[in-house]
Amino acid sequence: MINTLEKKQIGPKRTLRDKVFDYSSQKIGKERTKFFFKLYDLARFDLFGKPKGAIGSIDITNRCNLRCKHCYFYAHDYEERPELSDDEWIDKLESLKETDFPFYQCSWIGGEPLLRKELIERGMKYFKSNLVATNGTIELPNWPDVNFYMSVDGKKDMHDTIRGKGCHERIKKHANRPELKIHVSMVINKMNYQDIEYFIEEWKDVGVKGCLFQIHTPIKGLKNDDLWPGWQLRDEILDKLLRLKDDKYGDFIGVPSLVLKLMKSDKCKEVTRNCVFKEVSFCLDPQGQIKKPCMMGPYADCLRCGCVLPFHMWALEDKWLMAREVFMSLRRKLGKKAFR
Ligand SMILES: C[S@@+](CC[C@H](N)C(=O)[O-])C[C@H]1O[C@@H](n2cnc3c(N)ncnc32)[C@H](O)[C@@H]1O
Ligand code: SF4
Ligand code: SF4
Repeated sequence: MINTLEKKQIGPKRTLRDKVFDYSSQKIGKERTKFFFKLYDLARFDLFGKPKGAIGSIDITNRCNLRCKHCYFYAHDYEERPELSDDEWIDKLESLKETDFPFYQCSWIGGEPLLRKELIERGMKYFKSNLVATNGTIELPNWPDVNFYMSVDGKKDMHDTIRGKGCHERIKKHANRPELKIHVSMVINKMNYQDIEYFIEEWKDVGVKGCLFQIHTPIKGLKNDDLWPGWQLRDEILDKLLRLKDDKYGDFIGVPSLVLKLMKSDKCKEVTRNCVFKEVSFCLDPQGQIKKPCMMGPYADCLRCGCVLPFHMWALEDKWLMAREVFMSLRRKLGKKAFR
């Protein structure tokens, strides 16, 4: 297969859209063109719905230099099976080109994806938009178009308790890249929930674009159920985030208020029972196989899911709620209370 591919043109399919993009970039600049393409996609998705596979993730490696207490990845036996080689991954992406796979947005995860920087650099050319979720212990490559989500799980001591000694110091060093689009992303659990405000304060002046939050999702078979905060505390955490967003930090807390409200216990089960994310997303494991139902794999407890994605997608389906959210965000930006 690889030999046959060598004779073919390897690389992303060049569509009419790409040609229009290049032409427009020459005329009005890349950033403006991107903005208009984003608007166009929003309108298109709104009218016709997101195409299946428009958003998803690739576990580009089964390796990781850490073993975090809460991690879903090591509930699986990925490490016992060989990951795809560089050529096999490119081969995989090439074979998707033969289908109607949309190559829209890809999150590069794992394991620790930056252990395979060169491969991601090749792979991301296939997608219109790329996100790399990293533990931040490896120097970030110079990819200005990529969104980096750097995992930080609280204050220095807490972070190092969850992720390993010395990790926080390395993250701080590697996050100091104002030229890159970096968000810090915290998974809130029973151990670290008291660090939320400290965490925002610590990161708000260091040049990252914002803070993201998820809540711990219990994974069947992993001995980390004690990290689950329970429904009452989970609601209190969400209320706190809503208050902090409204009163103090605005859009620096990158999770929309609507999404935080949907995550509360009176609503969340309806959302996760009918998880839109699992229906429309694609997720590939380190062997290039489809991973179901989502990137967290089959042992994730959907009913107690704390991932923001199903809630985001649910919100997107509700046009009225979405319009209200945009209005509130504008009001925050213009109002005196706006953070910046
Ligand atoms: C599996 S990691 C892979 C990327 C990278 N190694 C990292 O740590 O960011 C992706 C994200 O999933 C989060 N995560 C892992 N286990 C989780 C769980 N049980 N519930 C919620 N999030 C989890 C991690 O904290 C991280 O932010
Ligand atoms: S760094 Fe990421 S993949 Fe590695 S153990 Fe921690 S959460 Fe899991
Ligand atoms: S764990 Fe969450 S994101 Fe994954 S399928 Fe279940 S509800 Fe959806």
